[in-house]
Amino acid sequence: MLQGKHILLGVTGSIAAYKAAVLCRLLRGAGAEVKVIMTDTAKQFITPLTMATLSKHPVLVEFFNPENGEWNSHISLGEWADCYLIAPATANTIAKMATGVADNLLLTTYLSARCKTIIAPAMDCDMFAHVTTQTNLKTLLAHGVVIADSPAGELASGLMGKGRMAEPEQILELVISTLNAEKKKSLQGKHFLVTAGATIEAIDPVRYITNHSTGKMGYAIAGQLAKRGAKVTLVTGRTNLDTPKGVDRVDILSAEQMYQAAVEAFKSADGAIMCAAVADYTPASVAEHKIKKSDDDMAIKLVRTRDIAAALGSQKENRILVGFALESDSGVESAVSKLQRKNLDFIVLNSLTDKGAGFGVDTNKVTFIDKNSKESLPLMSKAEVAEKIVDKIESLC
Ligand code: C5P
Repeated sequence: MLQGKHILLGVTGSIAAYKAAVLCRLLRGAGAEVKVIMTDTAKQFITPLTMATLSKHPVLVEFFNPENGEWNSHISLGEWADCYLIAPATANTIAKMATGVADNLLLTTYLSARCKTIIAPAMDCDMFAHVTTQTNLKTLLAHGVVIADSPAGELASGLMGKGRMAEPEQILELVISTLNAEKKKSLQGKHFLVTAGATIEAIDPVRYITNHSTGKMGYAIAGQLAKRGAKVTLVTGRTNLDTPKGVDRVDILSAEQMYQAAVEAFKSADGAIMCAAVADYTPASVAEHKIKKSDDDMAIKLVRTRDIAAALGSQKENRILVGFALESDSGVESAVSKLQRKNLDFIVLNSLTDKGAGFGVDTNKVTFIDKNSKESLPLMSKAEVAEKIVDKIESLC
C-alpha cells in the first residue's frame, strides 16, 4: 500500500507521542520507509531510541549533530519525503506552522518540504476549541495541509472532549488515501500513448503469425496513467482484457496498423510507452484465399515491419519515450543498444529466464535502464511494476 514511499514522521511534545511508535510500525508494515524528526519536548514523552529502533533510521532533532558537526539538512529531508506526517501535532507546533515560525528542525523541514503535509492534532479539549487554534487549523487547511480529525473522548487531563489524537490506524488510512489522491492528479493535462499486446500478421484469410503477449503489462500502465489524471490512448492488439477505466482504446491487428495508429496518437502526446510485442516480420503478401496444403514443404517470404518505437524516437523532441526489452538471457547490453537506437528515455528490461516474469503471468521482474543508471526491482505484481514505471515517467515530466 505504501511500498517504496518515503514518510517523514514528525513527533511533537504531546502525551500522544507514545502512539507515534505504533504509527511508525504501521507505516513500515505498509511498506513505507520512515524517518523520524522529533522536537526537543517530544523526547520527554518518547525516547529517540524507541523511534530510531522502530524506524531503522537515526532520529533527527537538532539542525546538526553536536558531536561531529554533521548537518541535518531540512532541504534534503523535504526532498526525500513523499509525505510529511506530523503526529502528534501540538497547539504550539500548529501555531508555528500557521505563521511560518522556523525555530526547530521539524518546522524548517515543514517550510521547505514540497510534499503533502498531514497533521494529527493532539491536545486538551479547551486548547483545541480555542479560537486561536481553530483559526490556525483553518489557515493550515487553506495552505493545503491535510488534518486528521481529532475524535472526542477521554483526554489525558481526565476531561472529555475533542482534541485526542486520531488512532494510528486511522492516520495510516489517511496517509494512504492522501498519497493516492495526490497520484491521481499528478498527470492531469498530460496525454500518453501506450501500445500493448501482440500484433497479428495475416498469411491468408485464416492463418496468421503472432506471439504470446497478453497485453497485461501495457494495460496496467495505461490504467495507472489514467488513474493519475492523464489522457491515455491505448493502441492495442487483440486481448481478452477489459479496457482500463478512463482510457481511450484503439484496436488494431497488424504491426502496420499499430504503426499508423501510434504515429497519429503521438502527434498530440506528451509521451509514449511502447509495451506491445510487435512482429518484426510480416508475410510479403497475404494470400487472397486460404492456402491449400500440398505434399511439398512450403516457405513464406517475410519482410521487415516498421519499428514504431524507433519512428517515434526520431520525432520525439523533448517528449518522453519508454520502451521494453524482453530477452531470453540477461540482455543488458542489448537493452542498452535499443535504448540508444530508438532514442528512448528509459527501457524496461524483463528476462524470460526470471521466474514469474514474462507472458501471461500477473507478476514481473524488471530492470530500468537509462543512459546513466540501471535499477533492478524485485519480483512484484504487474500493477506494482506499472506504478513504478509511471513514477519514473512522472519524475521526467
Ligand atoms: O527491437 P525490439 O523489438 O526488441 O524492441 C522492443 C521495443 O520496441 C518494445 O518497446 C516494443 O514495443 C518496441 N517495438 C516497436 N515496434 C516494432 C518493434 C518493437 O515499437 N516494430
